[in-house]
Amino acid sequence: MWILYILTVAWLHIVIVNGDIVFEEQPENQAVIFGQDLFLPCSAIDLDTNSKEGLVVEWNLGGKWRYDKTSIFSNGTLLVPTVTEDDLGNYTCLIYNSSNQRVLESQQARVFHAYIKMFEVSPVPVYALEGEIVSFDCITGESAPPPDVYWERNGEEFLGGEQHIATYGGHQKGSLIKQYSMRLILRALPTLDGSFNCLARNPALNIDVRSLRVLLQTAELESEPYVMEEMVVSSMIASINQPILIDCPIRGKPQVEFSWYKDGELLNGSPDFFILRNGSLHKSDTQAADGGLYNCHGTNPLGFAQSPNINLTIARISMVFEEEPQNLFVVAGLSAELICKPPISVPPAEVTWYKDNALLVPRTGEQSVLVVKLADGSWNIRFREIQKIDEGEYFCVATNQYAIPSSRTSRVVTVSIGGR
Ligand SMILES: *[C@@H]1O[C@H](CO)[C@@H](O)[C@H](O)[C@H]1NC(C)=O
Ligand SMILES: *[C@@H]1O[C@H](CO)[C@@H](O)[C@H](O)[C@H]1NC(C)=O
Ligand SMILES: *[C@@H]1O[C@H](CO)[C@@H](O)[C@H](O)[C@H]1NC(C)=O
Ligand SMILES: *[C@@H]1O[C@H](CO)[C@@H](O)[C@H](O)[C@H]1NC(C)=O
Ligand SMILES: *[C@@H]1O[C@H](CO)[C@@H](O)[C@H](O)[C@H]1NC(C)=O
Repeated sequence: MWILYILTVAWLHIVIVNGDIVFEEQPENQAVIFGQDLFLPCSAIDLDTNSKEGLVVEWNLGGKWRYDKTSIFSNGTLLVPTVTEDDLGNYTCLIYNSSNQRVLESQQARVFHAYIKMFEVSPVPVYALEGEIVSFDCITGESAPPPDVYWERNGEEFLGGEQHIATYGGHQKGSLIKQYSMRLILRALPTLDGSFNCLARNPALNIDVRSLRVLLQTAELESEPYVMEEMVVSSMIASINQPILIDCPIRGKPQVEFSWYKDGELLNGSPDFFILRNGSLHKSDTQAADGGLYNCHGTNPLGFAQSPNINLTIARISMVFEEEPQNLFVVAGLSAELICKPPISVPPAEVTWYKDNALLVPRTGEQSVLVVKLADGSWNIRFREIQKIDEGEYFCVATNQYAIPSSRTSRVVTVSIGGR
């Protein structure tokens, strides 16, 4: 009878109290690094008055008050400066009303040390025949917070193949400690041969751990020469007087013999060109006359293949601007334009404007100053409602990074503004 009475009272009590005061934000589990500051947010609101007036936030750790080194911001956030081992544990946020009665208690926020363990499973080496489907597996060690995981090939991030990642090890959903299983599925190709490994990065500690590195080795099947689509390029740009290397996208086994053609004429045997063992064509001193259409042929005892054309363009930029800017005198508030049509250039030049020897800073709004690129190839400055501050000396620079020298500078012009 008494017990029932107490329960009823307790139940009523909770209903009345929780009726209108609710959490807006509760603290979440966190992985921390010793020496850094910890912030745990918490706030509640009284729905009746739609305000936080009179509500006081208090914090405890493992059921005990914490007044020593911590502080509580007016928004309720708890600050624990320079976290140490003693600061780890379960934090709870408590809300008191204006008559100093506890009205809410938050979920526990577990604060624990960030860490990452070694891989539990590393991949094993694979010997495969070309075209065979092979796979590598890894299982990370535990990490808090959860690690970012990648595959690496020859020490660099590898995005190819088919990659599967799943959580592993029965950690609860939403847990800050995680482990992943990783699988990489590949079609074995001699061009993919190399060393493979997994990498797990703890984002809080910024520490990487790697699995063992293992080799993929593929035995090439005999084949007639064939064009490797991923190696095909249709155009290239070369700088004058510089060496150039054009790869031949043909492979095959046994060893392919290569020959190169320019505009239909055989280059093998020419003293200016050298054909490397892997089929690439080399020239040490590119000249304007070297521009044209190149292709390579590959032959072995099993057959023959011919690459698509590669259009080699020799970069250049002319001396003179097609159109240079002119001095301007404009009445304030009117619109005006400074013209810069760069010299003829292959590939087309990029234009940069300078004002008083510094990069032009564009402006938006009613009184805008913008560089506009027109269909005729010019890059003009457009002033809308020109202002006194636009007075100064202007010039434009046309750049073609492939050409030598790579840029041309226009004449310097003056913009003066008249009053109204
Ligand atoms: C609470 O206030 C502190 C100090 O002004 C601020 O750094 C923090 O971002 C605030 N937190 C929230 C959740 O508004
Ligand atoms: C914090 O709470 C969890 C369960 O919520 C418990 O497993 C853990 O031992 C607690 N940590 C401490 C330091 O009390
Ligand atoms: C604070 O809460 C208690 C019950 O927990 C209630 O009796 C009291 O009226 C509340 N005070 C205010 C100012 O709301
Ligand atoms: C061919 O060999 C040259 C010189 O070793 C190298 O620079 C080039 O990248 C190679 N090309 C290919 C497609 O392997
Ligand atoms: C080669 O490229 C240049 C510049 O990109 C272009 O002007 C020319 O028409 C191309 N030649 C052929 C045959 O496609």
